[in-house]
Amino acid sequence: MSRKPIIAGNWKMNLLQDEAKALFEGIKSFTKDFTAPQLPTIVIAPVFTSLNVVHTEKCTCGCGGDKIAIAGQNCHWEKSGAYTGEVSVEMLADAGCSYVIIGHSERRQYFSETDEMINKKAKAILAGGLIPIICCGETLEQRESGITDQHIASQIRADLNGLSEEEIAKSVIAYEPIWAIGTGKTCDSKEANRVIAMIRNVVKEISSEKAGDSIRILYGGSVKPSTIEEQMSQSDIDGALVGGASLKAESFNEIIANTMKVSV
Ligand code: 13P
Repeated sequence: MSRKPIIAGNWKMNLLQDEAKALFEGIKSFTKDFTAPQLPTIVIAPVFTSLNVVHTEKCTCGCGGDKIAIAGQNCHWEKSGAYTGEVSVEMLADAGCSYVIIGHSERRQYFSETDEMINKKAKAILAGGLIPIICCGETLEQRESGITDQHIASQIRADLNGLSEEEIAKSVIAYEPIWAIGTGKTCDSKEANRVIAMIRNVVKEISSEKAGDSIRILYGGSVKPSTIEEQMSQSDIDGALVGGASLKAESFNEIIANTMKVSV
């Protein structure tokens, strides 16, 4: 089963509009020399206020912009209404997004997002024709007490609850061990692959063999140009969700180039 790799950059709460535009231009300068089938699926997730700026740069003039998909970093499950500070799936689509990151550990930790909310978001995203990138991962304490697999399996079961086989097959999961995010401590590639294979088995169990074989599961947590080749050489790792190293065109492009050496 060949799954097209995804390299996604989560810009988190960084970059003003001019900086976002410059970074997008820097990525385009790499993508313009390749056809879409030669490249992994490339996704970037800017802050909401820069979505329009990068969307405007996504022209089809041959500059490479059309080979970069845009993601929202969060959404609400309702279509509209009195939800101050929130943004709907339709609004993200209107601003050029085709993906939405949900359930990031920073949102779970600082904004009290629960699996129930993440499940509602996943359903709204798929109903709106976009693709959810559903994040999961364990804390260092959970890892040390030996409950990593149990914790992640429970997140995945709850986050995917009620989704159809077809919806699950097109979704994306990102396994991001919390202790590896922004710390420079990458999870050992074989261990990341083991957890990701476990997640795939959970998907097969709750949905179908086909859904488990189709869903793309990424690794995230201190991914760098120097780590990606080994990560992408693993059987079950389908790509990366990159934080810090996605904020510079040079390192993000190198991650894409190194991914192309081993897969695509
Ligand atoms: P870092 O790559 O900075 O560790 O961030 C990972 C992450 O949280 C991506 O969503």
